[in-house]
Amino acid sequence: MHFEEIMPGLGKKYDLEIEVTSKPRQHYGTAEYLATNLPAAPAIVIGDEIIVSGKDISKENLEAAICRHMGIGAGEHKPEPEAMHLHDANHQNQIRYRTTALFYDILDFPWELQYKKWRPALVGDMKGKVIEAGIGTGRNLKYYSPDVDLTAIDFSPSMLQRAKRRAGYARCSVNLICEDACQMKSIPSSHYDWVLSTFLCCVIPAELQHLAVEQFVRILKPGGRFRLLEMVYSKDSALRKRQNFFSRFVEKVYGARFDRNTLKHVEKAKELEITRTEFLKHDVYLIIEGIKKG
Ligand SMILES: C[S@@+](CC[C@H](N)C(=O)[O-])C[C@H]1O[C@@H](n2cnc3c(N)ncnc32)[C@H](O)[C@@H]1O
Repeated sequence: MHFEEIMPGLGKKYDLEIEVTSKPRQHYGTAEYLATNLPAAPAIVIGDEIIVSGKDISKENLEAAICRHMGIGAGEHKPEPEAMHLHDANHQNQIRYRTTALFYDILDFPWELQYKKWRPALVGDMKGKVIEAGIGTGRNLKYYSPDVDLTAIDFSPSMLQRAKRRAGYARCSVNLICEDACQMKSIPSSHYDWVLSTFLCCVIPAELQHLAVEQFVRILKPGGRFRLLEMVYSKDSALRKRQNFFSRFVEKVYGARFDRNTLKHVEKAKELEITRTEFLKHDVYLIIEGIKKG
């Protein structure tokens, strides 16, 4: 198959913008074209790398090159967004994060001034096989100890692309995977010592919360631990008024809400025992921590 036919499909699969420039073959032999120093056609360029020049490429090799550029490693098959068969509400969120990813770190900057004080303690004590769900742009990555073998998932290829840069500065091994936290189809059962998520569950739609909790239960080893940091509504009326003021922005940009009731869903999971609930600030930033009974 010629890559002109392959590219649109792969673009869709990996959420990439594909530009196909097609001109008659003779054009590429002209002095004008040769003077541009562009690769001989047909060619595929990803970023600055010329993947193939002057010949065709198989779909498999092209896909492998794309995966390498997205930091998902050859052989680690990344489920395509469509193939994830996301629930509608999650699909809406995934689409939202295509745009949000472009500005995420800038938009989040004022809040990150606070969050970055918490992050070292949120992950610093973890060891062994750890999975972080909803890695986002990878803000926690640099705080993991070298004793961690980290799997980091997010359903947004655009967010993962940003996390990839930070993965380069991590002290532990990092495997980034494009995956839905409510399904985790590519994640093995009873495999992890820790599940971590920060500000993921407040994004997961209310009707899908239990699915994410079920996955946390499934992938944890017996005796494995989980730690979730989420935002909830304050009981203080002044604070709640402020939250209400921001709530439309927070939902529109991040898909997040203060009323996801994640704690209630974790409490319902018989296999999990909650060992700590603590507010990190006011009665808004809630840590839910516990263990999978073994
Ligand atoms: C508010 S951001 C938090 C990012 C990061 N954890 C942090 O602390 O900065 C939520 C992240 O969760 C991801 N996300 C939301 N729902 C998800 C789902 N069902 N499966 C996987 N990732 C999801 C989003 O793409 C986004 O990157």
